[in-house]
Amino acid sequence: MRNLILSIESSCDDSSIAITDIDTLELIFHKKISQEKEHSKYGGVVPELASRLHAVVLPKILEQTKEFFPYLKAVAVTNEPGLSVTLMEGVMMAKALSLSLEIPLIGINHLVGHIYSLFIEKEEVLPKMVLLVSGGHTMLIDVQSFKRMRVVAKSLDDSFGESFDKVAKMLGFGYPGGPIIEKLAKKGNPNRFNFPIPLKNSPKIAFSYSGLKNAVRLEIEKLSSLSNQDKADIAASFQKAAIAHLLQKTKKVFDIFHPKDFAIVGGASANLALREAFENECKKRGINIEFAKLKFCSDNAAMIGRAAIEAYKLKEFVNPLDLKVSPKSTILS
Ligand code: KG4
Ligand code: ZN
Repeated sequence: MRNLILSIESSCDDSSIAITDIDTLELIFHKKISQEKEHSKYGGVVPELASRLHAVVLPKILEQTKEFFPYLKAVAVTNEPGLSVTLMEGVMMAKALSLSLEIPLIGINHLVGHIYSLFIEKEEVLPKMVLLVSGGHTMLIDVQSFKRMRVVAKSLDDSFGESFDKVAKMLGFGYPGGPIIEKLAKKGNPNRFNFPIPLKNSPKIAFSYSGLKNAVRLEIEKLSSLSNQDKADIAASFQKAAIAHLLQKTKKVFDIFHPKDFAIVGGASANLALREAFENECKKRGINIEFAKLKFCSDNAAMIGRAAIEAYKLKEFVNPLDLKVSPKSTILS
């Protein structure tokens, strides 16, 4: 007899459902259908389109999990932060499952989910300092336990991933911009443009990407017509400044907190130049560094299921009539 959790993720443009074994942490089923192609031509996610696609795709994935229904002990769903209209799709499905199967409902914060992408099919190892870099957030979080997490630095404006998306759009590329810029940067000269490192001379322990983005915009306007080499050089020079900023502020946090363990999570943690820069820094300091597996960096339901196991152990259940969605994170902010 297995004890299983079904988890649903629909906070942005990925429809995903997972089934995780509560006792062994085994990921028994995991499917994710990304809508990147559908949004690419708009240069970003269109909420109304995303929500309609979730309504089509989520039931199709759910149908494939029917054999596990008799063993479900709970259903978990991302209920914040994200796009309200897309969160609602997953939340409605989770409420219906909870009511019809008469199993408890668990609401999971998407950012907590990203942190638990580190522990998919693994026991949790905490405390840890965690850098979360996604499309919506750039944060350093002091993670003591599932219930005790504190944001120690966050972005004052755009997020790291968002700045990659915007620069890609300015260069005439589609969405998501992160992998496009990273690939382009490999062919470019990172020293051609001297983009300013955000908040370089400020004592603030915070992130900011809007100034860097505007510096890139001005350079593009100055050049007027861009050759492929110009684009590659802009991508490389931008990426260098964007990573240098993350590293500079994280070093300040290392100096204060002296963490033994550090990890980077979120969609943008797939960036290999970012991984390398932090690996070198952590090696110098003797800090243990970890990343989620590449396939679990971007949004997925496996990380929501893994976090939900911690909530299940604490009996953090919510009445299906009461679970609300929130575009903002109410616990990590
Ligand atoms: O975590 P995620 O899948 O969704 C959110 O919760 O936002 O992160 C998506 C973000 C996008 O902004 C995307 O451009 C960025 O992560 N991203 C990257 C890379 N791969 C994805 N940014 C930089 N380099 C990458 N290789
Ligand atoms: Zn995410």
